[in-house]
Amino acid sequence: MPQTVLVTGGAGFIGSHTCVELLGRGHDVVVLDDHSNSSPEALERVAKIAGRPIAAAHVGDVRDRRSLDAVFTSHRIDAVIHFAAKKAVGESVRLPFTYYDINVGGTTALVSAMHDHGVHRLVFSSSCSVYGDATTVPLTEESPTAPTNPYAATKWTCERVLADLCRHAPEFRVLALRYFNPTGAHPTGLLGEDPRGVPNNIMPFLSQIAVGRRDELSVFGDDYPTPDGTGVRDYIHVVDVAEGHRVALDHIDDEPGMRVLNLGTGQGASVLDLVRAFEEASGRPIPYRVTGRRPGDVAELVADPSKVAALWDWRARRDLGAMCRDAWNFQERNPYGYAP
Ligand code: UD1
Repeated sequence: MPQTVLVTGGAGFIGSHTCVELLGRGHDVVVLDDHSNSSPEALERVAKIAGRPIAAAHVGDVRDRRSLDAVFTSHRIDAVIHFAAKKAVGESVRLPFTYYDINVGGTTALVSAMHDHGVHRLVFSSSCSVYGDATTVPLTEESPTAPTNPYAATKWTCERVLADLCRHAPEFRVLALRYFNPTGAHPTGLLGEDPRGVPNNIMPFLSQIAVGRRDELSVFGDDYPTPDGTGVRDYIHVVDVAEGHRVALDHIDDEPGMRVLNLGTGQGASVLDLVRAFEEASGRPIPYRVTGRRPGDVAELVADPSKVAALWDWRARRDLGAMCRDAWNFQERNPYGYAP
């Protein structure tokens, strides 16, 4: 089992929940995060939940070779989990160069530093968005890929780069995990999603409406070819995603080269399903208005999660109600997120 794990973006939403899981499993955790969309407070709370602190928190940009060298020379890293990236679909349509620079440039800088320092185990944070506008669901790992926005294209490009590097550097073991829509929060209410500015993703937006910070939800289109016309996604609890990473590390040495796995539940929920589930969990009304489609959005993305279940005996265990209850619990206890 890899002992010391570097987690890039470890203070972020999925990163912080993963740090809790890793500490609970006995790993030592080193974090590299530039806090561009995260708070150092999240790492204090990770320590509170886990009952012990991470080994070190480095503040730096994953594209910066000096930051990377500092991390790899001051710790004997056994494996890396790479979350640090930008992830807003709409923003990526406006700022494609920034997305390529940070997401692809960050990944190539990281793997090149890893190689130079003799570290060859990597879990890469990929996305179901690589499947694009899917014609058939559920999606298996063999389904065709066709990204519809720059964010998705950067994740797809990173997968291609990593697969090719694995062919040329056979000592690498890479697991690319294609998450569907991670949401929810830690059941303690100490960790959750705390985006800067107006949330892009639906769950933090719903939470901020329920807590009184925003007036209503814009439903981005009700003319999709789905049962109620709104977009269907496979929402997965962030603690399930975090557990998936812990299990991934247990299995990283099973096979050489690059492997790709879906992390989803196999259950689709529409925007209106989610609104109803959130109203029930929070006991608060969620006013909404249907507006136009959001550029880059697709109708339906639902995982076929059977490959990972067969390989690792891992599956998502928490349902949509738990995701809404935990997201609401975090928001109610932390109306302004990690800000004091
Ligand atoms: C996108 C990516 C996903 C990635 C995630 C990270 C795609 C297709 N998916 O998720 O891979 O992990 O970003 O952030 O690129 N919606 C509203 N009103 C809102 C916000 C969202 O109606 O204010 C709708 C969207 O149209 C969509 C659903 O809610 O149908 C989920 O949207 P969101 O939470 O932003 O996630 P994705 O765009 O699916």
